[in-house]
Amino acid sequence: MSESQQDGQDLGNRRYEPPEEFAKNANVNDPSVYDKANQDYEAFWAERARELHWFKEWDQTLKWDPPNVEWFVGGKTNVSYNCLDYQVEQGKGDKTALLWEGDEPGDTRTFTYSELLTEVQKFANVLKGLGVRKGDPVSIYLPMIPEVAIAMLACARIGAPHSVVFSAFSPGSLRDRVNDCEAKVLVTANQAPRGGRVSKLKENADKALKDTPSVENVIVVRRLDEDAPMTEGRDRWWDDVMGEADAGCPAEEVDSEDILYILYSSGSTGKPKGIVHTTGGYLTHVKATTKWVLDLKDDDVYWCTADVGWVTGHSYLVYGPLANGGTTVMFEGVPSYPENDRWWDIIERHKVNILYTAPTAIRAFMKSGTEALEKHDLSSLRLLGSVGEPINPRAWVWYHENVGGGRCPIVDTWWQTETGAILISPLPGITTTKPGSATFPLPGIFAAIYDEEGNEVEGEGQGNLVITRPWPGMLRTLYKDPERYEQTYFSRYGKEVYFVGDGARRDAEGYYTITGRVDDVMNVSGHRLSTMEIESALVSHPAVAEAAVIGRHDEDKGQVPFAYVILEGNREKTDDLMKELRNHVGEKIGPIAKPQQVIAVDELPKTRSGKIMRRVLRGIAEGKEDLGDTSTLADPSVVDTLQEQAAAQG
Ligand code: PRX
Repeated sequence: MSESQQDGQDLGNRRYEPPEEFAKNANVNDPSVYDKANQDYEAFWAERARELHWFKEWDQTLKWDPPNVEWFVGGKTNVSYNCLDYQVEQGKGDKTALLWEGDEPGDTRTFTYSELLTEVQKFANVLKGLGVRKGDPVSIYLPMIPEVAIAMLACARIGAPHSVVFSAFSPGSLRDRVNDCEAKVLVTANQAPRGGRVSKLKENADKALKDTPSVENVIVVRRLDEDAPMTEGRDRWWDDVMGEADAGCPAEEVDSEDILYILYSSGSTGKPKGIVHTTGGYLTHVKATTKWVLDLKDDDVYWCTADVGWVTGHSYLVYGPLANGGTTVMFEGVPSYPENDRWWDIIERHKVNILYTAPTAIRAFMKSGTEALEKHDLSSLRLLGSVGEPINPRAWVWYHENVGGGRCPIVDTWWQTETGAILISPLPGITTTKPGSATFPLPGIFAAIYDEEGNEVEGEGQGNLVITRPWPGMLRTLYKDPERYEQTYFSRYGKEVYFVGDGARRDAEGYYTITGRVDDVMNVSGHRLSTMEIESALVSHPAVAEAAVIGRHDEDKGQVPFAYVILEGNREKTDDLMKELRNHVGEKIGPIAKPQQVIAVDELPKTRSGKIMRRVLRGIAEGKEDLGDTSTLADPSVVDTLQEQAAAQG
């Protein structure tokens, strides 16, 4: 453990009570909510679901046929209706729904609820005109521009599942995701400015489109006034099709269990998993947690910094805030452009009240000092959120003192793409927080810790985190792969217990601290990557015979990919080749997957059954002397050779 982590541990013993004023005004401040939800969690969630608009109420709250779940069975609703029409009906037509800030400071666009509703209806008609029907997936490969929210809501309006692909993913990643769901339509943009640089998104999309037979139509947003290669008969400009579209498109009355979206996420094998979320339960969970955990209120300006390409962007930039009739901020750029005070400038100018971000960003700010913050008035902030990875106590305290001015509660929210919405988190008007701990399962959520044998760890202890009862935002399956769904989440401890894939520790007072992944998934700057996916990218290079990738601990990013390769035949270990391999991964998957370092070795540490012992590789990459028990290696002497080779190339 590094020195800075150690002093962070002491800070973890501090306690922070909800400030009195905050607690008084919080959306939830009565601790009896926990007991009530415990007594009858179905009734608890049904009460939350009643806060949505339903065309037809459900007949049955929960149908749990492990591992298959349905919530609000027989109910009819629509997510787009809830996020738009229902808000307008309640008198919010002129309220700002979406406040967009572009890459260049001051480049803003705002949409009221009525305006957003019009755009969404038009785009829904565009999709219908292209033959998209209920149940037909649509792929969206867009940067952080309003059109991404419009496209998502338009899909939801007609019951077409959307599959948003992170715009920094490579053409190959886009191709695989489009092909898996067989989208007929792809929505993209000509260009994507970010941090003063421009990526030619349409050119990337075109590379993917060479090999996506299902795609019949491509809609291209003209983000910058430039041309793009357009394929006659297939590609059309967003503005042209929107110009012709009718502005009336009533929301489809979809079933509570109809698919809202598919979002691909890395698993412990090379193939991304198509995580399926449905309608009624998901929106119930997302709406309630935005209100309860993020304490969103009518007059708040709320900013979630996550990209829409990830689940946080889906649940807490688009659906959660809009379903509550809030004002949500979307920022296209990066914290360092044009200056490193950009975020603080946005908070001051737009008077942001709630900031929801990732520990990796906080650690980066921490490193560059408080000067940039001090230039701005951040007094509008009243609540801070953290998501995506464990937040170390030092970063927590820094966030609290320097961003929150010591007055804002912090909600450290634990959840996953699979869980759809937050499961473990403080309620800011109730919970006494401890830096580094996500505190307690929310009301209506049943978490536990199991040991390797499947015994429940009671009281203080550590082990594998599990969820023992279904919750509304839960993934329903993996797209077209129910076996993998069962195998990944409901085989380790049987069909009734959701295996999370994270380790957790619980202290004597019941506070949970998430200790990180227990599988071959790594978390780089809050982004999930699979070691196997990076390994397959490496072995697709002709110089590589074998590859093993691990996540190495990193002070700033949480983890970074670190690769060991065995080169083909007589290829020489040159620096140029190592650089080429790093770039190759960047091109295959996307820049975030680029290994921080690639080192060439003669052998990998394998057990007698041929399994790579990643723990040993991690230890070597982190420069540890003690690598633990290596006696089960087929050849324990490879460890010495590896250490020498790592030292020579490090
Ligand atoms: O390891 C946990 C970590 O992120 C994983 C989920 O990643 P993803 O599906 O990409 O979703 C990220 C946004 C919800 C988890 O299995 N994680 C997420 N939030 C936290 C966290 N680890 C510790 N503390 C958190 N608050």
